[in-house]
Amino acid sequence: MSGEQEARRPVAPLVLGIETSCDDTACAVMAGDGRVLASVVSSQLAAHRPFGGVVPEIASREHLRNWLPVEAEALTTAGVELRDVELVAATRGPGLIGALLVGLSLGKSIAYGLGVPFHAIHHLEGHLYSPFLGGPGEPAAAPPESFAGLVVSGGHTSVYRVDAERVATVAETRDDAMGEVFDKVGKRLGLPYPQGPVVDVLAEAGDPAAHPFSIAACSDGSADFSYSGLKSQALLAIEALERRGIEAPPGETASDAMPGELIDLLAGFRAAAVGQILDRLERVLAANRFDHLAVSGGVAANRLLRREVARWCAERGIELSLVALAYSGDNAGMIAHAALLRHRAGRADDPLDAEAASRLPLEV
Ligand code: KG4
Ligand code: ZN
Repeated sequence: MSGEQEARRPVAPLVLGIETSCDDTACAVMAGDGRVLASVVSSQLAAHRPFGGVVPEIASREHLRNWLPVEAEALTTAGVELRDVELVAATRGPGLIGALLVGLSLGKSIAYGLGVPFHAIHHLEGHLYSPFLGGPGEPAAAPPESFAGLVVSGGHTSVYRVDAERVATVAETRDDAMGEVFDKVGKRLGLPYPQGPVVDVLAEAGDPAAHPFSIAACSDGSADFSYSGLKSQALLAIEALERRGIEAPPGETASDAMPGELIDLLAGFRAAAVGQILDRLERVLAANRFDHLAVSGGVAANRLLRREVARWCAERGIELSLVALAYSGDNAGMIAHAALLRHRAGRADDPLDAEAASRLPLEV
């Protein structure tokens, strides 16, 4: 660091975060107060798009190719050098095993080489605490002692209870995740990957009441989610429209180029998907009251979900921490942040021992 940089040295420890669990190569630099100094996410969209989804082998190779420039950009943006790093964190799972191994091995070797503590982080622990990350230039807020966490992504739809840093799973999906279903319905219409955000934008222009879908309940009355029924309903409805000659024009993503019936169908689909979230939150609340809800994950970018969850919380006097859009999708800021919380609690992992796992329960 230069003399001037030394004078405004970030609060210790300086954390380097690495996230490579799926198709984003991400590196973040965080100050010890949880301030994100740099968060670089290099998307592999162009490499996977021709296949309509993520190809695991391509993801691993792209992570290897992208890592050095991504790391360099993060360090330059933060105005620090690798030797200034005092704590290293990398995602250990769940995710694509080859992709995880790239980031975890990098993290382990950087920590070992620098002789600094290492944290192997659960991807969902990163999402779970991400709503407490601050805006640009702001430190992270301290998570409350007790809260409920809703994590909605392409691979997970879960509610957790966090009490004194202990995490318990309260509800999870029994089949598909909400983001996955958005992607599959969008893929059926020929929309580009990831289809979730495109379906969301299209649904904004539709009338959900013109094409309502039912909200699935679990037969045993549990708060678990189930999205495969909604997916089938939506795919069958698309087929029924096609039989009447109503189709998405190939390669089109603009709502004014789509048939109105299709837009209404997507609006109804999205309303039922979000409706199920509120239905399950109501069940969780009835079983065990919570005063604070933290909402995170890629699908937390969904426009209707953001509006509805804010309304739901306001009506019930529940405090809401809604992840900032910059940290809803996969990023390394959330991994650095989860590591910082672990570091404060005095928990570190051995960089020679930490292992990647494609499946990993979140119970800490
Ligand atoms: O958390 P994330 O980046 O990766 C996983 O850990 O899965 O979430 C990605 C998922 C994808 O399924 C994507 O389509 C979905 O989040 N997603 C959305 C929206 N933005 C991203 N789904 C619905 N509406 C959105 N606005
Ligand atoms: Zn994720």
